[in-house]
Formats: sequence, C-alpha cells, structure tokens
Amino acid sequence: MRLNKFLAHCGIASRRQCDEIIFEKRVTVNETIIDAPGTEIDPDKDLITVDGDRVRLIKQFTYIKLQKPQGYISTKKDPHADQTVMDLLPKPYQHLVPIGRLDKDTTGILLFTDDGDLVHTLIHPRYEVEKQYLVQLAVAPAGFPEEELPKGVTLEEKAIANGQAIPLNGKRTLYRVILKEGKKREVKRIFRHYNTKVRKLHRELFAGISADDLAPGDWKKLTSDEIKKLKEQSVGKEFTQKRRQGRQKKLKQN
Ligand code: URA
Repeated sequence: MRLNKFLAHCGIASRRQCDEIIFEKRVTVNETIIDAPGTEIDPDKDLITVDGDRVRLIKQFTYIKLQKPQGYISTKKDPHADQTVMDLLPKPYQHLVPIGRLDKDTTGILLFTDDGDLVHTLIHPRYEVEKQYLVQLAVAPAGFPEEELPKGVTLEEKAIANGQAIPLNGKRTLYRVILKEGKKREVKRIFRHYNTKVRKLHRELFAGISADDLAPGDWKKLTSDEIKKLKEQSVGKEFTQKRRQGRQKKLKQN
C-alpha cells in the first residue's frame, strides 16, 4: 500500500493533506524519514510514525449471521464432511470463523466473524452468553426439567447443566430452553437425562440476536445495534467474575 493512502486510511488527514505531511518530513517508516508519498509500505510489517506517534490501520471487522439449515457441519474445514457451514458463505467471507457450534441436524442462528477477541468472549463459559432453543421431543420427559434445570441437572460425566426449560404444549413435547454455558450437545444431553430424544432442535436466539428473519441457508451482515449487543456481552461480566474470585479468596483465607 502507498504511504499516503495508508495515512489517509488511518484517519490522519485527507490524501492530499497526507502528501503535505510527508513532504514536511514528519513521517518515518521503520525509523527512517520518508518524504515520497508514493512509497510502498506493508501495513502489517512496517512501523510508521507521524510526529513521533505510531500510526495503525483501524481494522474493520466483519460480523455475519446465518440461518443454518440441517445437514451442514459447523466447522471451518472437515475433510470427512461433504458440507460445512462455510459452503453457505461467499468467497470474500471464507476467512471468517463460526462463533461456537451447532450440530449437523440443528437449525437456527450461527454467527461468523474475524474479530478473534469477540469470538473468545462469546464462547467462553465465564461470559454466560444466553442461547435460546426451541426443542421438539419424541415423547414427554420422564421428570420435570422445568423445575430441575434452574437448580442444576447432573448429566453424564458429572457435567452440570443450568438454565430454564419452559414447556410450550400440554403434552410437554415442545420446550423452549435457555442456556448460558454452551456445553457440547447440551440440549440433547439434558433430554437424554429425562429418557427422551430430541426430534428437532432450532436455535432461536444467540445473545439476543435472531436469524429467523432469514430463509434457511441465507445470511446477512449484523446491524450496528446487533454488533453493539454482542460487544456488550463482556461488559460487567469481567467485573462480576473478579468480585466472585475475590469473595472466594476471602472465604479461603478465613
Ligand atoms: N445443544 C445440542 O444438543 N445441540 C446443538 O446443536 C446445540 C445445543
């Protein structure tokens, strides 16, 4: 990229004003003063300063939601899979990664981004990002997840599932389930615990965002409000976690 274009992209000034700044010998590339605006630079490797201050390109991240249909694996690459969710995104978005996973037969919202920090936040159990599912069961559960899930249900291998399960019909074969941690195949494991099978699983919401405005297989970019919602997921939770750790430390000391 040309130096003047790079500076303009970084928001220093207009392209013409950046030319002036360069002519005035106020710009260095790898500690050498450069006075030719057309000098080629590598924004990833070169260290560029204006009046002694480091200048960086403002990275524009991409955020996409997909209405995942059945039959697609939620992975970047799987040599054994004939269809992955990446097949549903066009070429310019092949560098994005799915945020978390849905089973091959699960439908509903799946997000993609190249914002690595946000991916980390959204999949880390600490941040308790809410996921809401619609669950169609083969038969009614042998027991009452609606009463037990809020207190914690012990699954196989001692994993504990916490959340809410709301029956939506009299036969108790249709449930809305809200979970925060996102353990592997958690919904199916919860209902296996109650001796029933999940026939259909659809994720209605992820962090309050829905893809139900899209047809199966369709995708679109998140709105700025939706991106804001995602970014808010970490706000306050770090603080809560630190307070919780502080309290535990105190308890241990006493
Ligand atoms: N829980 C499951 O069992 N499967 C999914 O795809 C998502 C949550």
